[in-house]
Amino acid sequence: MNDDRVHAHIRSFSGRRGHFTSGQRSAYESLLPRYGLPFTNQPLDPEVVFGRRARLVLEIGFGMGETTTRIAREHPDVDYLGVEVYPAGVGSLLRQIEEHDLTNVRIIQHDAIEVLRDMIAPASLDRVHVFFPDPWPKARHHKRRLIRPEVVGLIASRLAPGGALHCATDWAHYALQMLAVLAAEPSLENMAGEVSVSDNIDQARGFSPRPDARPLTKFERRGIGLGHGVWDLLFVRRPDGA
Ligand SMILES: C[S@@+](CC[C@H](N)C(=O)[O-])C[C@H]1O[C@@H](n2cnc3c(N)ncnc32)[C@H](O)[C@@H]1O
Repeated sequence: MNDDRVHAHIRSFSGRRGHFTSGQRSAYESLLPRYGLPFTNQPLDPEVVFGRRARLVLEIGFGMGETTTRIAREHPDVDYLGVEVYPAGVGSLLRQIEEHDLTNVRIIQHDAIEVLRDMIAPASLDRVHVFFPDPWPKARHHKRRLIRPEVVGLIASRLAPGGALHCATDWAHYALQMLAVLAAEPSLENMAGEVSVSDNIDQARGFSPRPDARPLTKFERRGIGLGHGVWDLLFVRRPDGA
C-alpha cells in the first residue's frame, strides 16, 4: 500500500457507538488493561505479548467475539489477535476471555488497517480472518468495503508465505467483489482452484466450502434457515511470497 493511500484511507466502519450492557461495560473497564494492547506505531513482538512462540492469527472486526472465542478455545496452541473498534464488542469478547480463562487472545481496539500497517511485521501472520465484514450495501458506500485492492495488498504482505486469508460474507454482491479483488492480488492463490468472475453469483466459480475452522454462528444459522447464501473465500500467500 503506498503511503498516501494508507494515511488518507477511507474508514470501513461507521461512527456508531453501540450500547454497552452493564456486564460488557464492567469487563471493558476492568479487563482491557489486562488483555488489550494499546495501538502503537511499533511492530509488536508476539513472543513478548503471549509469552511464547506460536502460530499467530489476526481477526479483523470480531463483532461480539463469538467466533473468536470458539476458535481460540478449540486451538489453545494458536495465538489470536482480535481487532475491533466497537466498544461493546470489545467488552463482550473480554467477558468471554475471562469466562473461559483464555490465555491465547489479545484485543486491539483500533482501525485494523492501521494495526496491520503499523503493528504487524511483514510475513508474520499464519492466518487473517475477515468474517461478515460490514457490507456497505449502498453503491455510494462500496468504497468503504474492507476487501478492496489496497487493503488486500496490505493483508497479503503481513501473511507468512503459505499463510491464509479467510473471508466470509452473506452478501452476494460483496462476495463477487471479494472474489474479483482477491483473485487480482498476485501474491495470493485461491485454495478453491480456478476463479471465474461473473456478475451472477450462481455462475461465479472460486468460492470455498465453509472450512470446519469457521464455526457456524447463530446469526449465520438463522440466515441459512431463511434461505440466505453464505460464501467463504480462502486464499493463501504464494510460497515464494511474490
Ligand atoms: C458486520 S460486523 C461482523 C462481526 C463478526 N465478524 C461476525 O461475524 O459476527 C463487522 C465488524 O467489523 C468492525 N470493523 C469494520 N471495519 C473495521 C476496521 N477497519 N477495524 C476494526 N474493526 C472494523 C465493525 O465495528 C463491526 O463490528
